[in-house]
This record gives sequence, C-alpha cells and structure tokens, in this order.
Amino acid sequence: MLSINSLVKKYKTTLAVDDISFTVADGEILGLLGPNGAGKTTILRSIAGIIQPNAGNISISGYDLSKDEQNAKRNIAFVPETPNLYDMLTVYEHLRFIAMAYNTLDHLDERATDLLEKFDLIDKKNELVLSLSKGMKQKLAVVCAFIHDARVLLFDEPLIGIDPKGARELKDMMLAARESGCSVLISTHMLDTAERLCDRVLIIDEGHKIFEGTLDEIHEKVQMSEDASLEDMFLKLTEDDNVNDNVAVS
Ligand SMILES: Nc1ncnc2c1ncn2[C@@H]1O[C@H](COP(=O)(O)OP(=O)(O)O)[C@@H](O)[C@H]1O
Ligand SMILES: [Mg+2]
Repeated sequence: MLSINSLVKKYKTTLAVDDISFTVADGEILGLLGPNGAGKTTILRSIAGIIQPNAGNISISGYDLSKDEQNAKRNIAFVPETPNLYDMLTVYEHLRFIAMAYNTLDHLDERATDLLEKFDLIDKKNELVLSLSKGMKQKLAVVCAFIHDARVLLFDEPLIGIDPKGARELKDMMLAARESGCSVLISTHMLDTAERLCDRVLIIDEGHKIFEGTLDEIHEKVQMSEDASLEDMFLKLTEDDNVNDNVAVS
C-alpha cells in the first residue's frame, strides 16, 4: 500500500507538485498521467526518497518515509526514466550488489537467471554494464527492480526505449506483481498503455490533480461519445484545466 498525503514540491520558482494526495492499494496498478512538465517524475522521485518534498506525507507499506526511512525504502523499487547503473560492474555483479543492499541474497542465482532470460540479457550476464545498449540498460534497471521483494513498485515512463518483447515481458510482470498484492505506480504519457494496464488513473497538470478514477469514471466526467479514447478524454481534461487557469488569471 502506498499513501501520499498533501505532497508539495517547489523548485526555486516552479511549484512542481501542488498539494497532491492519492493512494495505491495492495493489488492495484495506478497510472500517473499528465503532459510533459506536469510533475510526474517529481512525485515518483519524492516517493523513492531521492528528493525531499517541501510538505506532505508519504507512507510505504505502513512506514512513514520521513520517520522510518529504512523500512519504507526497503519496500520500494523505483525504475527511473533514465537508468542509473554502475558502468564498471558486470550485469550479474550489479544484481548481486542490489540484492546485497536489500539483504535478499537467497536463491539469487536462480532468480537472476530467470529474470535475465525473460529480458534476453542472459548472454550479457558477465559483461560490463558499460557495454550494454541503451535499451539493454533500461531492461537491466527493470530486472534490478524485481530482484528484491518490493511491495511497492514505481516506474517512470517504463516502456520508452524497450523492445516489444521486453515491453510485453514487463507488462506481464507488472500484472503478476498486482496479482501477488503489490502496489504499482506507473507514470506514462503513453495512453494506450494506461488504458490496457491500469485499474485507475490519476491525471495531473501543472502540479495539481485534475482527475482520479477509473476509465468509466472519466467517461462520466467528460461526457464524450461512447467510443472516445482515453487520449481524447485526456486532451479534453487537460485543455479544460488550462481554460480554467486562464479564466482564473484574467
Ligand atoms: N531539478 C529541477 N530543478 C528545477 N525545476 C525542475 C527540476 N525538475 C523538474 N523541474 C520542473 O518541475 C516541473 C515538473 O517536472 P517533472 O516532474 O519532471 O514533470 P514530468 O515528469 O511530468 O514531465 C517542470 O516545470 C520542470 O521544469
Ligand atoms: Mg518525467
């Protein structure tokens, strides 16, 4: 379970996240949607403990991130938009390093082999990370997320740059994680992905929430035709939001 309460993050002059609250239940996939610059990465990096929010509470599997950081962080896996890997370790050393950091070395060989096979990286097991292609690095970052037993999984634009087989594998693993009761939060602007994977979506724009609910609930709110896609509805919601902003300013 992931619970975010009144999160605020300012960068110098930009209010990137403006009082956002939401939860991701056990066994749920929530899609965090919004245009470029909406604040998605800032929210994910705050949950992962990489940046310090200005206000708000983040609770991960019942642990408050600001008060019980170690237990909170033990329960999360974060796959950033751009992988953050150690070039001078081999692929296997990398997985071993992550597993050691999380104290989950049991059956590491079997788990690593299984994951590396799934993502077509088994041939690279003993190669330096430095020698991997960009897409392979992205897949390794995904493998790292699944090598320890995280209950809350965070993915920032996860399907960009991954080949179709890797993308299919990752989607299946997200669904399997949901089945096993994990809370999964995916930021994406690929709306067809959200449509297929997510139980609910949270749409943000300029740091504030403009919609939270199921696709059926979006249909109800925007009152477009039956066959309107999520893309149509997304554009309408974000446009309406901008119109409201303009009215408020003038
Ligand atoms: N390190 C930073 N310093 C200053 N401004 C930032 C920084 N990171 C993000 N921002 C700003 O915060 C806003 C939200 O950015 P971000 O969270 O990356 O959005 P998204 O992931 O939805 O595209 C943008 O206006 C962006 O320019
Ligand atoms: Mg982003």
